[in-house]
Amino acid sequence: MNILVTGGAGYIGSHTCVALLEAGHSVIIADNLSNSKRENVEKIMRLVDKEVTFYEIDVTDEEAVDVIFRNYNIDGVIHFAGHKAVGESVEKPLDYYCNNIVSTIVLTKACKKYDVRRFVFSSSATVYGDNTVPFVESMNLLPTTNPYGETKAMSERILTDIAKSNPAFSVSLLRYFNPVGAHESGLIGEVPSGIPNNLMPYVTQVAKGNLKKLQVFGNDYPTVDGTGVRDYIHVMDLAEGHVAALENLTEGVHIYNLGTGKGTSVLELVNAFEEANGIEVPYEVVGRRPGDIASCYADVSKAERELGWTAKRDVISMCWDAWRFEKNNFLRLPTMLNR
Ligand code: WQD
Repeated sequence: MNILVTGGAGYIGSHTCVALLEAGHSVIIADNLSNSKRENVEKIMRLVDKEVTFYEIDVTDEEAVDVIFRNYNIDGVIHFAGHKAVGESVEKPLDYYCNNIVSTIVLTKACKKYDVRRFVFSSSATVYGDNTVPFVESMNLLPTTNPYGETKAMSERILTDIAKSNPAFSVSLLRYFNPVGAHESGLIGEVPSGIPNNLMPYVTQVAKGNLKKLQVFGNDYPTVDGTGVRDYIHVMDLAEGHVAALENLTEGVHIYNLGTGKGTSVLELVNAFEEANGIEVPYEVVGRRPGDIASCYADVSKAERELGWTAKRDVISMCWDAWRFEKNNFLRLPTMLNR
């Protein structure tokens, strides 16, 4: 199939493009490169030895999106493009609502105009709010703690209503947990701008010596060792989950958790990284980060039952692959990371 991948030059998008191409699909990437680099498109093509069509556009731009739908016979859309930093969304809610909601509307309008019937949406576990774990797709969603999470919940509702009004339009809403790691080649991976917000990219910067030590945000949570528990999933497992969702898409709206179903604490992840790579990761425990919840992990039985998909890579592999990418591809000047 001919698949339009918005945000396809980004972290999860680029890995998904590799998985799509390896599965025999062709890929058109639309990305404004606001949080990714054009070189990633070349790396994808080099990795899979196949051509990829690339448009440097903003997918909130209706005319620019129409050019792509007019020129290509698109069989499906996987929509990643969007702002995704929880903390930033609290500071800049309007940017998040404009970008994340308008892009979903522009793309679904184009799908309607050109009769494109498959839509896979990059949602997030954040939409569950502070529900009881493990999170199940049928749960009633609770308000999220941030505009980012609200844009994901709203986009899910928009797509659900559109699918209800048009039975031919099939939607898969994929709720991610914590994507980490990198393609085993070490060629593509996570490239946060500036000081990383997320745990694994911060750990790799400490391991590299660019940052002095990890700050562990609280060890007084009701968890195995008091630190936050999350469902970390290897980004290639996540990518393969998208291909499975696309290829198994049937009429209506389908929601799937893409996770491992296992919770890992901050200290368990740090210990796994040290064991996997033989590197010490100094840390200090500080206060809780506002907005964090104690535990977040998935019930992943539905994706296994309906898509035949499960995460295959374990935490040690995630640590190996994250570190390999960091070593091979990133010489960040310590001055840029002044913590
Ligand atoms: C993981 C754990 C922190 C950094 C976020 C988004 C979520 C999704 C994934 C988009 C927590 C602790 C972290 C650090 C730490 N993104 N931590 N020191 O917050 O679970 O999820 O990214 O969909 O929507 O909210 O990920 O990696 O920031 O935190 O102790 O320097 O690591 O407290 O327990 P999070 P994270």
